[in-house]
Amino acid sequence: TLVVLGSSDSMPVCSLWIPLSVRSIYPICMTNCPTLIVTVGLPARGKTYISKKLTRYLNWIGVPTKGTRQCALTALNDVCQYLTVEGGQVAVFDATNTTRERRWTITRFAEQNGFKVFFVESVCEDPDVIAENIAQVKLGSPDYIDCNTEEVIEDFMKRIKCYENSYQPLDEVLDRDLSYIKIMDVGRRYLVNRVLDHIQSRIVYYLMNIHITPRSIYLCRHGESDLNVKGRIGGDSGLSGRGKEFAKCLGKFIQEQNIKNLKVWTSQMKRTIQTAEAVAVPYEQWKALNEIDAGVCEEMTYEEIQVHFPVEFSLRDQDKYRYRYPKGESYEDLVQRLEPVIMELERQENVLVICHQAVMRCLLAYFLDKSAEELPYLKCPLHTVLKLTPVAYGCKVESVWLNVEAVNTHRDRPENVDISRMPEEALFTVPAHQ
Ligand code: G3H
Repeated sequence: TLVVLGSSDSMPVCSLWIPLSVRSIYPICMTNCPTLIVTVGLPARGKTYISKKLTRYLNWIGVPTKGTRQCALTALNDVCQYLTVEGGQVAVFDATNTTRERRWTITRFAEQNGFKVFFVESVCEDPDVIAENIAQVKLGSPDYIDCNTEEVIEDFMKRIKCYENSYQPLDEVLDRDLSYIKIMDVGRRYLVNRVLDHIQSRIVYYLMNIHITPRSIYLCRHGESDLNVKGRIGGDSGLSGRGKEFAKCLGKFIQEQNIKNLKVWTSQMKRTIQTAEAVAVPYEQWKALNEIDAGVCEEMTYEEIQVHFPVEFSLRDQDKYRYRYPKGESYEDLVQRLEPVIMELERQENVLVICHQAVMRCLLAYFLDKSAEELPYLKCPLHTVLKLTPVAYGCKVESVWLNVEAVNTHRDRPENVDISRMPEEALFTVPAHQ
């Protein structure tokens, strides 16, 4: 079996080789072939919002995904390059794609290249939602420099009218063979048709959980712990004196914010529970929010790890995201563990999450669209609350230090680590207290 499937014979895609002559007659799509997501809908229906959010989510869960927005032909070339050469798994073609003819062209293109197509249509007739969308994302457009909000909305409504004349929404009968989700009135209702595989069902699940109600998510770590003070990682110690002081200040800060229907979530570890207790509001514990499991390195200092497990220490420095502690976890594992938390955060409104350094980095990376390389080095200092507020296509971040000193637990990315120079026996050294 030879590995080739693509738009030209030189572009390897899937684990099967099919002669070009046969391919053109019988387009074959393998179970794990790449997916092309195609948005459909009039302007100002949140297509770019959905595309960007979905792209961010899929990348965070480890599915390489890219959004593409150029005019049709360039975009499709870009899709081809990304899915067949660059190793992408999902491409999101973010455009109006309002005519059946345009969608047919895209479907044909995908068939010829062995991609699956999943359409995401956003239908909305609520004038308030449309006006809000225009005001949120079109006001800053170069087309509207020096225009006021009313002028922008009026002009943009005229543009929408032009598209309305040729708009052919996905049709239950005519398009019954296509795979799609039709999102009506920003998630009030959905129509889902012919979901073909697990990635499509995951996309549907995600899109059915998100909402656009204004809210804020507050992220912070527990107060400084006894093990933090000793420079030891992991464990399940209680709060230090300064940690308790922070917990009180956090309670005061939350009260002053006067947040409507705030939910508070902690991990199942003492230090987050003690922090939430001092906030004096009801809270829920999540096992999924527990700190990364450092396995055989639990409760050690970084210096001890370097002495007793030099190769492990160095391997972690080389690929901190994928490195898994012996008998413990990696950041990559942690992201998988946190997926249900992210999904529930998407469903909720105002939430305060009291968690841990590694966990907070993973959550922050999701909201701020940070790569796997950046994620394990995001700065999440103790005694600092991050307030995340969704705006247009991203998140506004406000960082509030609550004025209580704490140790610094951040370790910067070291430069140039060479494991080839490590002694082999170092791999097997076990520290005395383990
Ligand atoms: O191990 C516990 C720490 O909170 C995670 O920090 O991944 O930077 O070592 P680190």
